[in-house]
Amino acid sequence: MFKEPHWREITVDIPAEHEEPASAYLIAQGAGGIWVESNGPRVHLHVFFPIEEKEKVGALGKGLRRLLPKGSVSLATALRPEEEWQTAWQKHSVPIQRIGKRLLIGAPWHFPLSNRSHREVIQLAPGMAFGTGTHATTRSCLIFLEGLISRSARGALLDVGTGSGLLSIAGTKLGARRVTAVEIDPVALAVAKENAKINGVDSKIVFRKTVPSGARYRWGVANLTAPVLIDLVEILSRAVRPGGNLILSGILAREGADVLARYRPRFTLLRKMRKGEWITLLLEKRKR
Ligand SMILES: C[S@@+](CC[C@H](N)C(=O)[O-])C[C@H]1O[C@@H](n2cnc3c(N)ncnc32)[C@H](O)[C@@H]1O
Repeated sequence: MFKEPHWREITVDIPAEHEEPASAYLIAQGAGGIWVESNGPRVHLHVFFPIEEKEKVGALGKGLRRLLPKGSVSLATALRPEEEWQTAWQKHSVPIQRIGKRLLIGAPWHFPLSNRSHREVIQLAPGMAFGTGTHATTRSCLIFLEGLISRSARGALLDVGTGSGLLSIAGTKLGARRVTAVEIDPVALAVAKENAKINGVDSKIVFRKTVPSGARYRWGVANLTAPVLIDLVEILSRAVRPGGNLILSGILAREGADVLARYRPRFTLLRKMRKGEWITLLLEKRKR
């Protein structure tokens, strides 16, 4: 069966010593994550952009050639359906990914990496839990969290559907004072606890099977599905304090209006991020 392409994969082939400036440039140009493949003295940086962003290939080529020594860069491009894109990422388990401006994610065996960019490092043992940082919904949540959380903004984060624990761990690394991670699947919960330990942040994260009823959080994130987000509207709305933010993800573009309609009475929509067929909503809770 013909699978409709959703993604334009751009593979940048460069000398290994230029990986850092090239990655920083690609992220500044809107790449959500980079899969880095070592190839001896050269590296391949794989980035994905929505199919409609045709002009990206030429623009990235020009930008990289300006940035790096003459003759050192070559670019290849291919169109990928959503399924193939997901398989490509999963095949590489937890690839090394630079997400946003402050996060670097990889499997424990990738580290210690020379972290010249001073990013916050997250080591993930993938196990049987969703959340390696490669899925569009997870990456959108991470990018929104990075924009919200800083060390100067003291606050607590609620992560509902924590899976591998990635968003909770990222929350603590970005500066959240404490995190409550909620997960109904006992296997995922065990993986998340292990990942928190590996990253040395287990003392900052409380793991639970349900959202605590009395607590109010400065930030909430829920990467679930549209029907579950609609079911949880009362619980999630109550959990975020007035003026706080809620990130909702795991929503197919065609489901966005329904989810938003349920949250709109108490929240204002600040931003909507679309990656392929997925959208992520950034909301702010009204003060009154
Ligand atoms: C799409 S994964 C997200 C994992 C991770 N937060 C990420 O962003 O990559 C959704 C997770 O939510 C969990 N889940 C589903 N319904 C839930 C609920 N009502 N309460 C808590 N967790 C739930 C699933 O078991 C799964 O691990």
